[in-house]
Amino acid sequence: MKYIETDRLILRNWTLNDVKDQVEGLGNFETAKNLTVPFPYREENSIEYISKHLKNNVNSYAFAVELKENGKVIGGTSLDLIDGVYGGGVWLNENFTGRGYGTEIWIARAKFAFEVLGVDKLENGYFEFNERSRHMHEKVGHKTISNSVKYCPALKRNVVEIWTRLIREDFYKALNLANLMEIYNKIKI
Ligand SMILES: CC(C)(COP(=O)(O)OP(=O)(O)OC[C@H]1O[C@@H](n2cnc3c(N)ncnc32)[C@H](O)[C@@H]1OP(=O)(O)O)[C@@H](O)C(=O)NCCC(=O)NCCS
Repeated sequence: MKYIETDRLILRNWTLNDVKDQVEGLGNFETAKNLTVPFPYREENSIEYISKHLKNNVNSYAFAVELKENGKVIGGTSLDLIDGVYGGGVWLNENFTGRGYGTEIWIARAKFAFEVLGVDKLENGYFEFNERSRHMHEKVGHKTISNSVKYCPALKRNVVEIWTRLIREDFYKALNLANLMEIYNKIKI
């Protein structure tokens, strides 16, 4: 089922046909070092994840991110309700980073949360060395609220995670400031 459409991407339910693309993306150390996914990321990890996320529900939304131009799954994003607030994350296959897709997904995910789920805030973390993710978070209005420590399987060590909050008002302010309203307006939910 298609949930969200952006200019270049479709965010939809995972299917077991996506295993190959998910393993290609998350099996890469440069991607996995920014995440808490198992590493090495094998076919069985993908089958387990997708099997648990075939259907979305109010506590957990997981979207495969498909390139409109050829149907390849180039990443994933999620919204998980934890202690009453949605968290979750985003990842892209390394070959598709640096082209604005991450920002497009992050705006689409927030638009879905604010406009469809009707929440008034989101919370997310990024590892302290992840400058690209930091920039993406700040660009759309996330504010730092705390630090914590998480274990990263790819790095085989604990890392500091910068925890952030995005409130609705800051989101719209930041989109205007960074000229991102065009991306936002093209997103169909
Ligand atoms: C983080 C991630 C989702 C970002 O997606 P992306 O498509 O690569 O990012 P975008 O191209 O939309 O935007 C990245 C921004 O960071 C900037 N950037 C890139 N490298 C940077 C660096 N070293 N320092 C600061 N900013 C940087 C880019 O210039 C761009 O900003 P701009 O659009 O204002 O010019 C993607 O790189 C990814 O999946 N990485 C691996 C997994 C990961 O880190 N997931 C997030 C975990 S919190």
